[in-house]
Amino acid sequence: MEVNKAVIPAAGYGTRFLPASKAIPKEMLPIVDKPTIQYVVEEAVAAGIEEVLLITSKGKESIENHFDFDMELEAVLEEKEKEDLLERVRYVSDLISIHTVRQKEQKGLGHAVACAKTFVGDDPFAVLLGDDVMYSDKPVIGQLIEHAEKTGCPVIGCQEVAREEISKYGSVQHSDRSGRRARVTNLIEKPAPEEAPSTLAVLGRYVLTPDIFPILAETPRGVGGEIQLTDALKTLADKRPLEAYKFKARRYDVGQLQGFLEATVEYALRREDVKADFHEYLQQLLTERGG
Ligand code: G1P
Repeated sequence: MEVNKAVIPAAGYGTRFLPASKAIPKEMLPIVDKPTIQYVVEEAVAAGIEEVLLITSKGKESIENHFDFDMELEAVLEEKEKEDLLERVRYVSDLISIHTVRQKEQKGLGHAVACAKTFVGDDPFAVLLGDDVMYSDKPVIGQLIEHAEKTGCPVIGCQEVAREEISKYGSVQHSDRSGRRARVTNLIEKPAPEEAPSTLAVLGRYVLTPDIFPILAETPRGVGGEIQLTDALKTLADKRPLEAYKFKARRYDVGQLQGFLEATVEYALRREDVKADFHEYLQQLLTERGG
C-alpha cells in the first residue's frame, strides 16, 4: 500500500473560538506566527504526501489563499529587498498542491470525509484533523503510513487518555496488542467515561482505504446528530482487519482554548529566534505571581 494523498477536513464553524473565528476560519488562527492548518499540512508533506484535499465550507477562502501564490505581495517584498520574508512566503505556496471541495452542509466528520470520494478514487489515503497539532521527531501520519504499508490494513492513530477525558474522543476496543499496535474490535464515539471500552482514544490521524466510502454513505447520524467517521470505522472493522497504532508525539488539541494556549507557549519556547527572551519573560511572570 502506498499513500500519496491526504484529506484535511476544515469545514467546521469553530464555535469554541468565537469571536476570533467569526470572520476568519479557526484553521487560520496562528500558533506563534503560522496558522494551525500549516502545521498539519507540513506534517503531511514531511510524510511524503503529494496531494492534499481540503474539505472546506463557506468563509474558508483564506485557507486556500494562504497556500496559493501571492504575486503582488511577492513583488512588494522583492522590491523592498526583504529576502527573508519573501522566502517564507514562497515556502508556503510551494509546499504542496492543494485541492478543495466544499462540504455544503455540516453533517459531521463522516460526511466531510465522504466528500473526498472523487479525489481519493481507488487509492488509500491519509486523514488529518486540523484540531490536532502534533510535535514529533517523525511525522505522526508517517508513522501510521508505515504501519499501513507493513500490514496492508487501514490504521487509526491513537494515544491513551485519562478516563474522564475519553468522552471527548472515539474509544477503541482492541485485542491482540503487541508493541504500539493492536487490532480494533469495536469503536464508540464519545462514550460516557464509565461506558468506554478502553481509554485508548482516536486522535485525529487515520490511514484509510476507499472501501470506507460505501460504508459512510450508509452510516446513520450518531452522537450529536452527526454522521460519525468512528461509526463507519466500526462497521469497517466488522468486515476487515483494522489496526490501532499508538503514535509517538506530543499532541495539542488546538480546537480547545487550553490546548491552543499550551501549543502557543511550547512552540514559542522551541523557536530559536524567540525562545531566550520568551523563557526569561515567563520566568519573570511566574516570579511576580508567586508561582
Ligand atoms: C473527532 C472524532 C473523534 C476523535 C477526535 C480527535 O471528534 O470524531 O473520534 O477522537 O476528533 O480529535 P471532534 O473533536 O471533531 O468532535
